[in-house]
Order: sequence, then C-alpha cells, then structure tokens
Amino acid sequence: MLQKVVRSTVIDAPIERVWAVLRDFNSHDQWHDVVDTSRIEANERSDQVGCVRSFTLKDGNRIREQLLTLDDTAHKSTYCIVEATVPLQRYVATVTLKPVTDGNRTFWHWESTFATPAGMERELRDMVAQGVYEAGFENLRRHLRSGGDLQPRGSARTAPGSAAMPLALPLPSRRIRVARYGAADVLQAEDGEAAAPKAGEVRIRQRAIGVNYIDVYLRRGWIPSMLAAGGTPGMEAAGTVIDLGEGVSGLRPGDRVAYLGPVPGAYSSVRSVPAEWVARLPAAVEDDVAAATLLKGITADYLLRDVGRVRPGARWLVHAAAGGVGLLLCAWARKLGARVVGTVSSDEKARIAREHGCEHVVVTREHRFADDVQRHFNGGADVIVDGLGEAAREENFNALAPCGHWISLGNATGALQPISPGWLLQKSATLSSPVAFAYTATHGALTERAQRVWDALADGTLKRPMIERYSLDAASQAHARLESRATMGSVVLVA
Ligand SMILES: NC(=O)c1ccc[n+]([C@@H]2O[C@H](COP(=O)([O-])OP(=O)(O)OC[C@H]3O[C@@H](n4cnc5c(N)ncnc54)[C@H](OP(=O)(O)O)[C@@H]3O)[C@@H](O)[C@H]2O)c1
Repeated sequence: MLQKVVRSTVIDAPIERVWAVLRDFNSHDQWHDVVDTSRIEANERSDQVGCVRSFTLKDGNRIREQLLTLDDTAHKSTYCIVEATVPLQRYVATVTLKPVTDGNRTFWHWESTFATPAGMERELRDMVAQGVYEAGFENLRRHLRSGGDLQPRGSARTAPGSAAMPLALPLPSRRIRVARYGAADVLQAEDGEAAAPKAGEVRIRQRAIGVNYIDVYLRRGWIPSMLAAGGTPGMEAAGTVIDLGEGVSGLRPGDRVAYLGPVPGAYSSVRSVPAEWVARLPAAVEDDVAAATLLKGITADYLLRDVGRVRPGARWLVHAAAGGVGLLLCAWARKLGARVVGTVSSDEKARIAREHGCEHVVVTREHRFADDVQRHFNGGADVIVDGLGEAAREENFNALAPCGHWISLGNATGALQPISPGWLLQKSATLSSPVAFAYTATHGALTERAQRVWDALADGTLKRPMIERYSLDAASQAHARLESRATMGSVVLVA
C-alpha cells in the first residue's frame, strides 16, 4: 500500500524569496541539514525538467532524484527518487508555494507518496514527515534569517525542490531500562531515541528480542562492567535494516537480519549495532524464531563442536534440559549421536525434554541427580553442561565420569565458587567456562555458526522452537517468569 505524507507551514518571507531557494533542484545541501553534498548529473541546468540530482546524506546514504515538473507561475515542482540506498520505493513528492497576503508571507505545502518494505511503514513515514519535511521547514527558516541567498556554484542555475532522506537523524525507540539493580520489577519501559548508525554500524527496526539468562544477571548487577544501572539489557534481536553507517557493505535497507553481540542494549524497538554482529535471515526463519534460536543455537553449536567435541556414544548431562539452550542442545546432541540425560524441575518439562532428544530425564527441583546419572550412564557423564552453578556444585562433580569435562555455562542458582585443581585431579577431570561471544568474535565465525543453526532448523535437526512471547513493555513479566523456572523453550520480547 502506498504511504502518504503531507506537511505544510507558513514561512515569514515573501513567496519569490522562498521560491528562489526551493526551485533550485541543487540547493538543498546549502540549507537542509541532512544533506552533505549534491550535484546535477550530466552538466544539465538545475532547473531543467528531467535533470537528476545525485546527493549524499551526512550518514553516507546516497540518493538520485529526478525533477519531473517545474512551474514558476504556480510555484510548484514535482520530483521522484530514481535510485537510493534507503528503502523508499516509488517516492514522488510535490512542493507548492502560495502567497499569504497577511504580512507578505508564504504558505509551503510539501507532500509525497511512496512504498516501503513491509513493517517499515511507520518509521519511514515518520522520517519523511519529521526528518525531511518538518526539519526542512526549520532549516529553510534559519537559512533565510541568516541572509538566505544561495551561493553561486559553478554554472548551476537555481531550480526547484529539495528533499533529502532524514536518515542522519535519531529515530524514536521504545526501550527497557534497568532503573536500578534488583528484581524483575526494576525493568522500566521508556521512550528514547536510536541514534543514526555511525561508521560501520547498521540501524535496525527490531521486531523480536531474545531473552537470555545473562539478562537476569545483568539486571541483578552481577556483571556491572557489562551493564551499569540505568542501562538497557539484551544481547540479541531480529528485525529489518533501516539504514547503514559509512563503510558498511553487504547489507541494504530492508534486509531481514538477526544479531548478537557482547554489548547489551537489545531491549529496544530501534537500535544501531556494529555490522560485524549482524547475520542475514533466510526467508524461512521468522523474526521470533531467529530471536529464540540465534544466541542459544550458536551456544549449542560451539558446545557440541568446539568445547564438548561431541562424538557418537558420548554421555552428555544437560541441566535445564527443557530451557532455551537446553532443548536445542539436547536435540542437536542426540542427532550427532550423543546419549543425553537431562535434569528438569517438573514432569511436564521432562516430557518435553524427552521429545527433544533426552533418553532419560531426572526430575528434581533441588538439584539431586548424581546417583541417578551414575546409574543410568553406568559410570557418569563424559560431558556436563552446567547452567546451574553453585547449588549443583557437589552433585555435578559426583555425576562426572573419570576424565570427564565439566562445562560451567552459567549460574542460574548463583555464581559457581572457585574450583581447585586438586579437586578435579581426583577424577582427572577438566573444567571450562566458555562464553558465546568469544565464539562469534569475527563476522565470519558468527555467520558460519548462524548458518549451521538455520540449516539445523531447515533439516529438522532442531524442531521449531517453543517460544513464550511478551511485549517489549512486559519485559519485567518475562524476567519474573524465567526466574520462577516456569518457562519451557525460549522467551522472546516482541517490539
Ligand atoms: N556461556 C554462554 O555462552 C551461555 C550462553 C547461553 C546461555 N548460557 C547459560 O545457560 C543457562 C540456560 O540459559 P537460558 O537462557 O537457556 O535459560 P533457561 O534454561 O531457559 O532458563 C533457566 C532454567 O534454569 C533452571 N534453573 C534451575 N535452578 C534455577 C534457579 N534457582 N533459578 C532459575 N532457574 C533455575 C530452570 O529449569 P528447571 O526448572 O527445569 O531446573 C530454568 O528454566 C543459563 O545458566 C545461562 O546463563 C550461557
């Protein structure tokens, strides 16, 4: 559906003075703040109907627009976008001036129609209305107040119009803040702005945001070096590219993407992030599925391939087996031939964990599983994936097979206290503390791992994820539920 934007204002200057600026199709870099440089192509005059202006915005975007009509009697011009790095499609705009007899002022009407990629209608309407038209009104007023006549520039003559995309401007962004460290209710929704993307960055309209247990640690203030009180949590999201900072290649406005990165801030509706964090989304992967599986699926991928080096017949113990990481990891491990035992806190979770690859499930709220695991695996687990932490410390050690590997993945019950080499020596065991961001530190590593996750979804290795959805504003409910151990599968905030 075509979008329509209409804005008008009254300028405190005579019509001929305003028209002298606006009829110059190559004047906008002299008065509109978002335009960096502009030129008329093919040495045409800037009042020649059919001429094309080629201009660069201050954020690096490039646009070519063609002058379609110019009427000096009606004080009216029409122009359209012929090519742009911004996602405005079939953009046609009209500028019309009329004299206001009262006070020798000028009525300026500016309107356009255009199409947009699905889901970007509102942002782009807002950008055109506020960033181009309303900002343009103010910029022209200032230009005229300051003397206001155009600088001569080569042989170009004055001509109509103006219009630059507003993409150098901040955009409204709803976001969640950790008002102070504490329980789930410290998460507060507020209106803010997402700055234009800097060099190397991509600005994304986020549709779905993955909730991870690390977000809870950050909210509680367990990792202050990562998130100061007042900051916005969230490590991953999926959505649509709005615009690109200087030097970004391989992505275009309108592309569907997902990202993860080591700097929190994903609990927001619009965000600029380094392009290095971003992976394109296949058409078959919806935004909420991507937000539910990117970080957690990549975690399963590096645990299996790199840290646990899974092999057929290996005995894996996976805690929180019906959780976000748990379901993906169990299913993938089983597919690769491992034998998987899970722990969960309810019979319902046990049923789901079995459906996702666990050959045996220990139901325990108090983290009592070692004897059961020793019995079932006849000698303990070769690999333990421990997202529990301190409360399961002794049990994990007791569940470990000789020469087993204990992966300290997270601390849902509290931070795992230091473990001495002498203790591990008793079982010739090894311990690791890996972090997903280290395994996605380069764009190549990220996209390779993301692709394996999308492939695993496509070939059925990973089932369609179970997702609990909350609105972005309801982030505190989502956290409370995750911490209450009630969720199964992934939790996603919908922006
Ligand atoms: N290092 C990394 O790269 C990395 C990446 C992703 C996740 N992680 C870690 O992996 C673990 C799972 O993360 P996730 O995001 O997928 O969360 P999740 O597993 O969906 O949720 C946490 C689960 O932990 C279990 N749990 C046991 N005791 C708990 C307690 N006292 N409080 C709360 N939960 C408790 C619950 O399952 P039951 O009720 O069934 O026991 C709960 O559902 C977390 O420890 C997280 O920090 C680490």
